[in-house]
Amino acid sequence: MSPKRVVVLQRPVDLDDVQAIEALDSMGMFGTARDLPEQCSRALDTAADVPLPAGGPFQNIVVTGLGGSAIGGDLLRVYAFTCLDIPVTVNRGYTLPRFAGPRTLVLAVSFSGNTEETLGAYNEARRRGAAIVAVTSGGQLAAQARRDGVPLITVPGGIAPRSAIGYLFLPLLMLLDRLGLVNGIEAEAAEAVRILRELRIRYDLEAPLTENPAKQMAMNLQGRIPVIWGASTTTEAVAQRWKGQINENAKAPAYWNVLPELNHNEIVGFQAPTDILHRIWLVFLRDPDDHPQVQKRFAVTREIVGKVVAGVSEVEASGKGLLARMFSLIYLGDYVSLYLACRYGINPGPVEVIDRLKSTLAKGE
Ligand code: PA5
Repeated sequence: MSPKRVVVLQRPVDLDDVQAIEALDSMGMFGTARDLPEQCSRALDTAADVPLPAGGPFQNIVVTGLGGSAIGGDLLRVYAFTCLDIPVTVNRGYTLPRFAGPRTLVLAVSFSGNTEETLGAYNEARRRGAAIVAVTSGGQLAAQARRDGVPLITVPGGIAPRSAIGYLFLPLLMLLDRLGLVNGIEAEAAEAVRILRELRIRYDLEAPLTENPAKQMAMNLQGRIPVIWGASTTTEAVAQRWKGQINENAKAPAYWNVLPELNHNEIVGFQAPTDILHRIWLVFLRDPDDHPQVQKRFAVTREIVGKVVAGVSEVEASGKGLLARMFSLIYLGDYVSLYLACRYGINPGPVEVIDRLKSTLAKGE
């Protein structure tokens, strides 16, 4: 017989009780969310003086990292789709794809600097003679990069990796801007910062539930299985970010996918088992630049699955540039995941399971 599981029922926190939320949030996750616009401004400077890697012109870019340090790579890949002439691949593992070699720019990203998979991929990049830039707040990656004379973007530490999304994404873009591979990043980032400041007023703790779309969305997701659907080339990486934030902050399951692909498989899987389907809440991430056929697909998809699930929410990106539009949706998802943690009475900061896995693997057990 399998051992009996102990279920701890935590008390939901009232989303308008700022004191109770701050008491629960031991790592100050709401504070770092509130600081995101300023983090994004500071992030741009971190890549300003870093020596540019030799070895160009590059044939491809590989961003290697895990979890909160990899999602910036996904955002970069989506951003690059329309404006970069060379492919961006995101690598989540110990080794590198076979194509990576002397004409590859490897961006090795680890917030802590101690993630073993990223250190493995970094060493592999060295062996293959790739150009490398390391992005980290310290740890072994910083030490190795200094020792190897590899350009190093140092970002401030002291927060959770997933809270450092500005530091782990924007410096990569700035670097590509300085390499002449993309342009206009500073102006786009300035718009993103402005939009984030506007949205902060709507999503932060002081905005009451009756007027706060992030709190309202968390109430809808409570007790449900969030399924986040975005679209290829616009909101794809943002959907993945929402999922990860719900997992890590609210310690709850969540899933993501993209249109049009999901219209060719996942959409069929909404007939059984009905008791589980009734507990799914779909969130559609909409972007004004979605392909016109994708916009139609969102509408038809809603007709097909809308009645089977508990509910569907559609949220629209704000801003003109893609950077602002991405960050506007990221910000909503970040706040939603934090409020959902509160509804589950869960401290959003610590991720004990990840820490335990890392230390077990490091000990070689
Ligand atoms: O959010 C987290 O804590 C994780 O997803 C980490 O980002 C992941 O484990 C990788 O660690 P690091 O970002 O320090 O390389």
